[in-house]
Amino acid sequence: MEQHKFMTLSRHIIEGEKMHPEATGELSYLLRDLSLAAKVISLEVNKAGLVDILGFTGDNNVHGEQVKKLDMYAHDMLIRAMDHGGHLCVMASEEEVEIIHIPKKHKVGKYVLLFDPLDGSSNIDANVSIGTIFSIYQRITPENTPGTLEDCLQQGTKQVAAGYVVYGSSTIFVYTAGHGTHAFTLDPSFGEFLLSYENLQIPKKAKIYSINEGNYLYWHKGLKKYIKYLQEEDKETDRPYSSRYIGSMVADIHRNMLYGGIFMYPADSRHPNGKLRLMYECNPMAFLIENAGGRASNGKQRILEIKPEKLHQRVPIFAGSEEDVKMVEKFMAKAEKEE
Ligand code: AHG
Ligand code: MN
Ligand code: MN
Repeated sequence: MEQHKFMTLSRHIIEGEKMHPEATGELSYLLRDLSLAAKVISLEVNKAGLVDILGFTGDNNVHGEQVKKLDMYAHDMLIRAMDHGGHLCVMASEEEVEIIHIPKKHKVGKYVLLFDPLDGSSNIDANVSIGTIFSIYQRITPENTPGTLEDCLQQGTKQVAAGYVVYGSSTIFVYTAGHGTHAFTLDPSFGEFLLSYENLQIPKKAKIYSINEGNYLYWHKGLKKYIKYLQEEDKETDRPYSSRYIGSMVADIHRNMLYGGIFMYPADSRHPNGKLRLMYECNPMAFLIENAGGRASNGKQRILEIKPEKLHQRVPIFAGSEEDVKMVEKFMAKAEKEE
């Protein structure tokens, strides 16, 4: 059996920064603080089945969806872990309408943090994998002033780091600082994330597709044709494909990272911008996927090049194995031309 390098997440981050003499080390601190929040959330997620914290809070989040207690726990924990390190000037969370300021008593820094505290929350009660997603930018407003909405609304290409944590059969922390995508598994006995995959490479083509097929009726004509194409038999192109849909973006994308495949949350006639949020879900995932050799688009354009207009903006997404994403883009463009 191949032996992995015995490497902790903190050491990996520091060694990565060492290769860039211009780095100040601040990003390492940020990622370290995020990994601490991830451990605390992971513990709480594991306890969720035992203690009576499940069920709805009765509140709706800013997207009008029911919020479960664990979402708010993760949201609060991230803020508590991140607001006093002196490295951030502003934050934004999927669970809060407005940007989150750094309390006046703390120093402000040069970074901006956006996060989806708990992704796939409809799966909590069923003990299915859920996750946390984060995205980090450098501020564009002057130093030593409070961060603003402008700092948060940067194009995805400007990300300096991004990552997700999947709370599954193990807890896995996956991050990129723009030089490859790396995964670390939490050893619960001594509480360290240990390197499990360095430089993840998404296979260029796979045979798994991942989409909520219940929305078929409302899809774009090109997408309907593409899905039918995947279901046809053809030995040369390794069809039919298998269908896998967890309903937690983090878990679906994590599978794609390892096995390849295409994850889709398209626009449809009822949801013209799809469901997933550009700033909290699509941009960080696109950055991680591209750093692992994959592709992420809205069907026409690279996710990372979309100009953000609103904090909670939604965009369609097609992400994963490069050739598979190119194929769906082709089907949709062709159907559009025929119209
Ligand atoms: P969140 O729990 O952060 O609101 O995100 C849920 C998202 C995403 O994780 C998943 O891919 C998608 O919703 C599933 O949506 P459908 O139930 O519409 O398929
Ligand atoms: Mn989400
Ligand atoms: Mn969420």
